[in-house]
Amino acid sequence: MVIDMPAAPLPRGMIGTFGYSEKEIEKEAQRLQFAIKQPMRWSIEICRSLAPMTLEINRLKREKDVFLIAHSYQTPDITYGVADSVADSYALSKEARDASQQTILFSSVRFMAETAKIVSPHKTVLHPSPDAGCSLSDSIEAEDVIALKEKYPGVPVVCYINTSAAVKAECDVCVTSSNYLRICEKLPGDQLIFVPDRFMGRHLQNSLEGKKEVILYDGECEVHAEFTGPKIRTWKKNMNDNGIDLVVLSHPECDAEVLAESDFIGSSELLMNEAISLARKGRRNLMLITECGTADRVLAEAEDHLNLMGTCVMCRHMKKTQLEDILESLTDPRPSQIVEIDEDTLNRASKTLDEMFRLAE
Ligand code: 13P
Ligand code: SF4
Repeated sequence: MVIDMPAAPLPRGMIGTFGYSEKEIEKEAQRLQFAIKQPMRWSIEICRSLAPMTLEINRLKREKDVFLIAHSYQTPDITYGVADSVADSYALSKEARDASQQTILFSSVRFMAETAKIVSPHKTVLHPSPDAGCSLSDSIEAEDVIALKEKYPGVPVVCYINTSAAVKAECDVCVTSSNYLRICEKLPGDQLIFVPDRFMGRHLQNSLEGKKEVILYDGECEVHAEFTGPKIRTWKKNMNDNGIDLVVLSHPECDAEVLAESDFIGSSELLMNEAISLARKGRRNLMLITECGTADRVLAEAEDHLNLMGTCVMCRHMKKTQLEDILESLTDPRPSQIVEIDEDTLNRASKTLDEMFRLAE
């Protein structure tokens, strides 16, 4: 759910030295540049200018015993500068649930921070960018699910994790990009309702053909909807014509035609792991059909040389968070940076997530 906008723009570029010495800043700048591993885009000057802020965020995290988790689509200064853990939405929900710290700071979009609050209701969950939405979670409201349940009584309702707490509260089980096929196969009956991603729903429909009917909703991810089958086919043909053995890896939020052209389909984390493992085996020409953050992670974490061909699309919602927002929510959070969910919604949404954990393991 989109909470209030800040009264004034967040202070950007508020970079002082925070009292750190030149030597400390230089050491931190080198750590950042080494970790990000993209010296052309993240020059030492840029890293030097960010270093006081990453040092200060890391100090505050330790002082306040905060667990800072970041989704793979956050920018590298966050993922490699200040995050304690970076992963896909499923792994991060589990980490939020199991964290020993009483405060979790989730650098990501709102539905992910809400999910952290649902799975750890007694912890304080900080969300630096309260207005960071998602085209999928914004495409559906609780009333839409209620209407579907009235139209198809008794049919299990599955929601993708990219939904608000209020939508989750109306559903039977939640799924993520790393477990939707496995969980949906296990559900009773020969029908299921899948909301809100029509692309992932269609992929599910194709996979369950002959076993279950999947009733779809019409949401889509504005980022993954940019990729089309013909675009991927053209790339593959051009590469093949030039003797390049291209491996295509796609996120399941893409259109069925894109997925049909792909050699591997998986969550942001699975795509990264597969790319790294392919490079290790000598298959170095890879095309990542997803948000740009996954490519940033592959470049940072692959030990072998690889060529990332083609392009990626940036999620404007995921990229809303900056180090300044994280610093603000750690220092003196605005009320909207502290995730609150009413008790009834939280309890009902919690059952939907518990069912996911039960079926996914
Ligand atoms: P992952 O669970 O694969 O990280 O996906 C979340 C998401 O929003 C992808 O667009
Ligand atoms: Fe939502 Fe798509 Fe952005 Fe993921 S990439 S947060 S699904 S808009």
